Amino acid sequence: MYVCLCHGISDKKIKSLAIEQGITDIRGIRQCTPLGSQCGKCVRQAKEILSEVEVVQLKQAS
Ligand code: FES
Repeated sequence: MYVCLCHGISDKKIKSLAIEQGITDIRGIRQCTPLGSQCGKCVRQAKEILSEVEVVQLKQAS
């Protein structure tokens, strides 16, 4: 599913950046992609995806 329609960035892309590169915040995603740089509507959903990944990683760690 596309999160950022302006730049064609999917939830999978965000999740893989978070997992593979250990990115935990939106700033980190924005350093790797242009997410949010046009209309900005995707930022909230991207943050939600990052927190979902964090929750899953915390569960796996415990
Ligand atoms: S949807 Fe991401 S900048 Fe517009």
